Amino acid sequence: MEKPISTATNVDVDNVKLLETSAAEWWDPSGIQTAIHSLNPCRIALIIDGLISTGKIKAEDRNKPDVLKGIDILDVGCGAGILTEALARLKANVVGLDPSEELVKIARDHMKGQSLNIEYITEFIEDYSIKNPEKYDAVVASEVVEHVPDQKSFLLGMAKCVKPNGSLFITTPNRTMFSYVGTKIAYMLKVIVKDSHTWSHFITPSEVAVILKEQNCNTILVRGLWFTPFFNTFCFAPYQGMQYALHAVKYDNQKQK
Ligand SMILES: C[S@@+](CC[C@H](N)C(=O)[O-])C[C@H]1O[C@@H](n2cnc3c(N)ncnc32)[C@H](O)[C@@H]1O
Repeated sequence: MEKPISTATNVDVDNVKLLETSAAEWWDPSGIQTAIHSLNPCRIALIIDGLISTGKIKAEDRNKPDVLKGIDILDVGCGAGILTEALARLKANVVGLDPSEELVKIARDHMKGQSLNIEYITEFIEDYSIKNPEKYDAVVASEVVEHVPDQKSFLLGMAKCVKPNGSLFITTPNRTMFSYVGTKIAYMLKVIVKDSHTWSHFITPSEVAVILKEQNCNTILVRGLWFTPFFNTFCFAPYQGMQYALHAVKYDNQKQK
């Protein structure tokens, strides 16, 4: 019998409390979550391009308002739903998962009256993955891995929920001297919640790739992400030392390795 990955409460409670403190501000695009809001265009592009590259959606549908129609997406660490809603507006069927009851409540309240296909669940990915293996076309964790104590258990839980030929998308800060300094500057500029990031918890793309490989997921793309504070915008960039976006694909264990 397959051993469950872990059912431990894999959460840094104090860290999540810091994020909950700013709960009322989550949906203010110029508030303390401003960087998260401005990351949406890049992360949506990452997901759409990634799903085109694996044949889940057609290239000619890229700019259609319902480009994600019929695509099942799990948004792990969904917070107040800033990315979750954006995906659902493109007609994806989205499940948002987060251990914070408070953030999930904000997310549920915000979607009211919008007729979006979103289900929000308060659960750990490790537990959820045992009940929902290979269910999703795409599993996303954007700006989450750096907040999780046991990153291996978290990433393996995510990977478990992906269908064969399905995709994993991650955005997170890299662990470099540049990101050490960059995080301090981001605090000063108030574009991320003060003290919400611990540099030693940052993870490199190659560390992520090694873990995902254990669940039959090959990393096929890593792109640097660059935030320009004064314009409050993100763009893709060749430099991966500050923050990066990663796309991995689960191969079919029966067919290929
Ligand atoms: C910076 S927020 C990002 C929220 C969302 N992904 C977005 O970009 O809008 C980090 C989120 O990670 C969540 N989180 C922390 N530990 C987690 C864990 N073990 N599993 C899933 N989510 C977690 C927090 O509750 C919080 O919602």
